[in-house]
Amino acid sequence: NTAALVDRFGRRVRYVRLSVTDRCDFRCVYCMSEKMTFLPREQVLTLEEIGRIASVFTSLGVEKIRLTGGEPLVRRDLMELVDYIGTLGLKDFTMTTNGSQLPRFAADLKAAGLHRLNISLDSLNPEKFRRITRNGELHKVLAGIDAAQAAGFSAIKINAVVMRGRNDDEVLALVDMVRQRGIDISFIEEMPLGDVSDHGRDETFCSSDEVKAMIEQRYPLTPLTHNTGGPSKYFSMPDSRSRIGFISPHSHNFCGDCNRVRVTVEGQLLLCLGNEHSVDLKPILRAHPQDNGPLRQAIIDAMELKPESHHFTTDGEVQVVRFMNMTGG
Ligand code: GTP
Ligand code: 5AD
Ligand code: SF4
Repeated sequence: NTAALVDRFGRRVRYVRLSVTDRCDFRCVYCMSEKMTFLPREQVLTLEEIGRIASVFTSLGVEKIRLTGGEPLVRRDLMELVDYIGTLGLKDFTMTTNGSQLPRFAADLKAAGLHRLNISLDSLNPEKFRRITRNGELHKVLAGIDAAQAAGFSAIKINAVVMRGRNDDEVLALVDMVRQRGIDISFIEEMPLGDVSDHGRDETFCSSDEVKAMIEQRYPLTPLTHNTGGPSKYFSMPDSRSRIGFISPHSHNFCGDCNRVRVTVEGQLLLCLGNEHSVDLKPILRAHPQDNGPLRQAIIDAMELKPESHHFTTDGEVQVVRFMNMTGG
């Protein structure tokens, strides 16, 4: 019998985001607080446990798995997990990374069968990049994009969170960069996850419509009907193969066709990014080390808990206590 995961609103879950670590070599202002502390080792799932979760979801009809963090590539021995998931026969196997470790790992990721890469990059100015990431070096990320392209990844998407006064003057520069490289970009509205009050979210919010208007001063944008099964709405430009996407959790709610759930590195199955509804898979994994049956049943039962929608506001209020590095974006 073909199993499928369907929630109370008839939405079919085909996309799972697995966070493999809460750690990161950067400290982006919208993602972490200045004094972030990381999880102790025993609280974190083993790579084998994450592999079991991936395999059970795949048996339940999931077709797309994305590895996230923190920064996935700082997890030790991550390639063992990537190699394993690469054998599950997914339609889409992909990763969201800050790019800094790609010079070391891009070729291995390609060989393991990863299909696509999303690389976070908010600024092309080394000083501004350092201020946004708190300690990141731009040249490492640019070298990472070079390495991914050299390794033969043709489906690469840049993710840029646009913030007024921090990088909103770089929208066109980022568009020109992806045009030159022949890759895609999504511009993201910042979401209120975790208390990052030293950053001042309410002052920096910038809507997708504003960003789109900036781009259209130089390049006309035509909406595309095909998307990647993620929240981004894509547009094309007449003279380029690069697609421009907008992820607009505030201005254009996309929860109606949500097809995804997340698992944190502590084993919390999160039914929605913008809510606290979750099921703890870790005790089930550890009570049944040889039998995936209980895990499978817990995942099926959890679909009842998936909420209809998130309710983000832009007034700087913290709505989800979890930080983004604990959530995987
Ligand atoms: P594609 O598979 O390439 O479409 O990627 P994606 O957009 O699904 O994933 P990515 O990791 O690149 O995430 C980009 C942004 O989308 C991040 O800021 C995520 O937090 C956000 N995002 C992804 N899924 C959801 C969701 O269900 N709800 C909300 N509010 N944001 C989401
Ligand atoms: N709001 C929107 N996007 C965020 N990201 C991290 N934190 C936030 C936030 N608070 C983005 C990163 C990365 C993706 C996984 O999520 O830039 O591209
Ligand atoms: Fe690290 Fe990504 Fe969070 Fe930045 S947004 S601190 S790169 S996990």
